[in-house]
Amino acid sequence: MAESSKKLEGKVAIITGGASGIGEATVRHFINHAARAVVIADVQDEKGQELAKSISLDRCLYMHCDVSDEDHIKTVVETTVKTYGQLDVMFCNAGIINKAEQTILDLDLTQYEKLFSVNVLGTTASVKHAARAMVEGKVKGSIICTASVAASMGSLQYTDYTMSKHAVVGLMRSASKQLGGYGIRVNSVSPGAVATPLICENMEMEAETVERTFESSYYLNGVLKAKHVADAVVFLASDESEFITGHNLTVDGGYKQS
Ligand SMILES: NC(=O)c1ccc[n+]([C@@H]2O[C@H](COP(=O)([O-])OP(=O)(O)OC[C@H]3O[C@@H](n4cnc5c(N)ncnc54)[C@H](O)[C@@H]3O)[C@@H](O)[C@H]2O)c1
Repeated sequence: MAESSKKLEGKVAIITGGASGIGEATVRHFINHAARAVVIADVQDEKGQELAKSISLDRCLYMHCDVSDEDHIKTVVETTVKTYGQLDVMFCNAGIINKAEQTILDLDLTQYEKLFSVNVLGTTASVKHAARAMVEGKVKGSIICTASVAASMGSLQYTDYTMSKHAVVGLMRSASKQLGGYGIRVNSVSPGAVATPLICENMEMEAETVERTFESSYYLNGVLKAKHVADAVVFLASDESEFITGHNLTVDGGYKQS
């Protein structure tokens, strides 16, 4: 890889939800951009371990971590700092969507709570503990959260998911103001539909069918891939975005909002 492509040279990163989909693509991208080490924090142990092994156990570590449990996040952050000396980048990406129609008239509040515990509490705990480690280590780090195009529009069906992604943007904007004085940047990426297991399982469709379904939703021709989101995350994690904070970067090909 050319020097100019080594955008993350020497950086140590944690990626929550890194075992699959957008997180997995970002793990690979971070390593390709010369990150010193990437810690994959996920609940899919087998997948996460396989991914770490397929890259290099010298530069990739899998840790079981349920982001809805603050202690798990705290342990991942502490272990990362202990093992690699510091934390430069936190990608708070773990998220779920409910399968049942969550319209306001039929909202299942147990499912709502479960979703919020991952998408909102989990992301908040991840930002909190990453920020604490960066402040303590005097690291001018970068924190990136995964929101969604659902963070800036209403939904006919996914009320709780849409609410949770609005909350992620509110968290990102508030944290960016509070952490700017420490030199820590906080931004988010908002992908359109990417045919990951999350969306394929939700729609009960194969990846190709999901991609065909959404092809006409973008002003740009083509298919939105996890790699496109990973490119945006690398940019926000790198020094190329050193004066960008509090920004929600949509990666959606110009999504035709309904
Ligand atoms: N795929 C899309 O179209 C799309 C669009 C916008 C936003 N997003 C967001 O992107 C993020 C990644 O999703 P994806 O599409 O790659 O789906 P995915 O299902 O492929 O990946 C999500 C990962 O998060 C992990 N995870 C789930 N609950 C967790 C928990 N409690 N603790 C730790 N890890 C947990 C899963 O095991 C999985 O590895 C999510 O926040 C999702 O809401 C996805």
